[in-house]
Amino acid sequence: MTPTPAARRVPAMPRTELRPLTAADLAACAMLLADRHRRHRVAQPLLSARFEDAAATLAELTAAYGTPHASGAVAYRAGVPVGFVLGAPKPSPLWGPNIWVEAAGLAVTNPELMRDLYAAAAARWVDEGRTAHYVVVPAHDAELVRAWFRLGFGQQHAHAIRPATAMPAGLSVRRATRADIPALAQLDLELPRHQGQSPTFSAGPPGTLEEAVAEWTADIDNPAYATFVAEADGQVIGSAVGCALEKSSAHLSLARPERAGFLGFAAVFPHARGVGAGRALGTAVIDWAASAGFDSVVTDWRVTNLLSSRAWPALGFTETFLRLHRLIRY
Ligand SMILES: CC(C)(COP(=O)(O)OP(=O)(O)OC[C@H]1O[C@@H](n2cnc3c(N)ncnc32)[C@H](O)[C@@H]1OP(=O)(O)O)[C@@H](O)C(=O)NCCC(=O)NCCS
Repeated sequence: MTPTPAARRVPAMPRTELRPLTAADLAACAMLLADRHRRHRVAQPLLSARFEDAAATLAELTAAYGTPHASGAVAYRAGVPVGFVLGAPKPSPLWGPNIWVEAAGLAVTNPELMRDLYAAAAARWVDEGRTAHYVVVPAHDAELVRAWFRLGFGQQHAHAIRPATAMPAGLSVRRATRADIPALAQLDLELPRHQGQSPTFSAGPPGTLEEAVAEWTADIDNPAYATFVAEADGQVIGSAVGCALEKSSAHLSLARPERAGFLGFAAVFPHARGVGAGRALGTAVIDWAASAGFDSVVTDWRVTNLLSSRAWPALGFTETFLRLHRLIRY
């Protein structure tokens, strides 16, 4: 039997409608974000279960939307929300004339749609003179990451997590004391020194030794931080600092699991690198986190830092979010 022309007609795909994100869209976006997080937790179960609930993601989105100069775009298909992007500038000059899309700032039902959403939102961002763009994307979603790469973004940073379980350590590592302040202050300068060089070229200010000594003198007894030093032949060769993840300003909302410790800092003097001090220090922080009752330990690194980007995955940290970056009109 020959089908009638009407029966042969393929139903038209509903058009995607893109518009600026408003407060009225937040509840729908919160549901998309909770769905995204549920998929993310299948790959990365150490992330917080709390954000599988749209009430929790709505609170995050409401806070993000309330950030000064926040703006974004939302997509609907046949009246159903299918994606959004929401960004806001950070005040620090470190990031340039910037817009940041944080961990709670995006969700899509189809990764390709992310490119339309970015196009819709970025027009305003660039009109406002905000030409340095940063986005924190779930690391497990290769298609979504690829969509951002095809928007001209490159990978700058990685957030990662591992369970807080003990590991054997080879080198001598102990808690730092006030007598270690001169070495701790020198080690503080090693991170910006290393990251200022090729291929990271970080814009982070190096600070001075005097400032570092003053900070350690004020803070060495602060019980919120667990500071360790590694020793070889009686000399301090490296340091690492652990604390609760809440102390970090870099892991926010959906990227902040409950009861997570944080490997916040580590450095080994250049002459002592590559022989296991970093591993021993990282292990000391992980052991401390386990004994302090944390379920996981979070850290992050510049992916262009050839040392930390190899050392932390070797310690069992797996990526949770990737920070991507694009610079427009240089
Ligand atoms: C990152 C840092 C603390 C690591 O300390 P380290 O003493 O050099 O590291 P280790 O010798 O313990 O090596 C750690 C792991 O990295 C791995 N690694 C080191 N170099 C590597 C290389 N070229 N390729 C692959 N893996 C490498 C090692 O295999 C080791 O894992 P393993 O014990 O399973 O073999 C140190 O290099 C440093 O001070 N860097 C500058 C400051 C900095 O980047 N701090 C971290 C900020 S996020």
